[in-house]
Amino acid sequence: MSNETSVKRIGILTSGGDAPGMNAAIRSVVRTATCLGIECIGVRRGYTGLINGDFIKLDQSAVKGITGRGGTMLYTARSSEYNTEDGCKKASDTCRHMGIDGLVVIGGDGTFRGALDLSKHGGVNVVGIPCTIDNDIGCTTYTIGFDTACNTAVDAVDRLNDTMQSHERCSVVEVMGRHAGHLALAVGIATGATIILVPEVKYDFDIDVIERIRLSRLAGRSNFTVIVAEGAEPALGVADKIRDATGIDTRYTALGHIQRGGSPHVRDRVVATAMGYMAVSLLAAGRKSRIVAMRGDRVIDLDIHEALSLTKEFDYEMYRSFSALTFLDKKTLMQSFKRTD
Ligand code: F6P
Repeated sequence: MSNETSVKRIGILTSGGDAPGMNAAIRSVVRTATCLGIECIGVRRGYTGLINGDFIKLDQSAVKGITGRGGTMLYTARSSEYNTEDGCKKASDTCRHMGIDGLVVIGGDGTFRGALDLSKHGGVNVVGIPCTIDNDIGCTTYTIGFDTACNTAVDAVDRLNDTMQSHERCSVVEVMGRHAGHLALAVGIATGATIILVPEVKYDFDIDVIERIRLSRLAGRSNFTVIVAEGAEPALGVADKIRDATGIDTRYTALGHIQRGGSPHVRDRVVATAMGYMAVSLLAAGRKSRIVAMRGDRVIDLDIHEALSLTKEFDYEMYRSFSALTFLDKKTLMQSFKRTD
């Protein structure tokens, strides 16, 4: 990275749902920029702060010791005003008045669309960093916060499994993920769930849930775990249907916002730090409208239009392997072996 840059001042904001690792990304941006002599302005409360001029100065000491802290020190919001032509123009004008040469936006797809709108108004150059517990952004194999959220959910399900085993119950657990089942799949596999329901895989409730629980009971199990992605169907209803059809004492738990909090795990701290560094290097080099992303273990960057046009594939292969292992279904297992040959 060259230390010669015409960029004098950059802004940083976090927007949408928070995710563990946002603070680590903020720190990395500030430390890298400061090192290059670029001044950093923290924009509070996402795009709302950009409209209202809700700014704070961020220097080395302002971001001291935040790598391990959950949440976001800049607060976050979903702004309806920003989604209007007028709101976006106001935000763009604020950037110009404040002399902001570049803006790092940390969040999900909605945050990136906001950045694209801003760049269209010609106010400021933008770089996005993918950060959401949903891991549902098409251009990147990994989003900051996913690993920590998975671990938090796994810990909760493990605890539920202990008490379900003692009482010979069925536990229906709803996990977040918005319209995607990536979080549910990882949590279900990691906890040895009986069934995982995700929006990407069609299921017949009688065959794929009730019958499977019956078979599992016949095979000798007396407690069961059903992981339901919030985008699949309401987990409370799933619990009621299982209780009615099987007579098994069934309890429902929605993990909710617990999944968004907590100290970020190693992967999220490391990826956030690498992405923050990359975001500043792009702005300093004058690159326009870029999104930082992961491809395997590598941090790359791509054009924001291309990034927003990509959709994320659900890992059907992983889902099939889970089903084969859980139900000891040799045919499915052999088929999945062939596919990976
Ligand atoms: O996108 C992150 C996420 O936690 C989703 O998994 C969930 O659907 C949504 O945000 C919840 O949003 P809110 O915090 O507004 O309730």
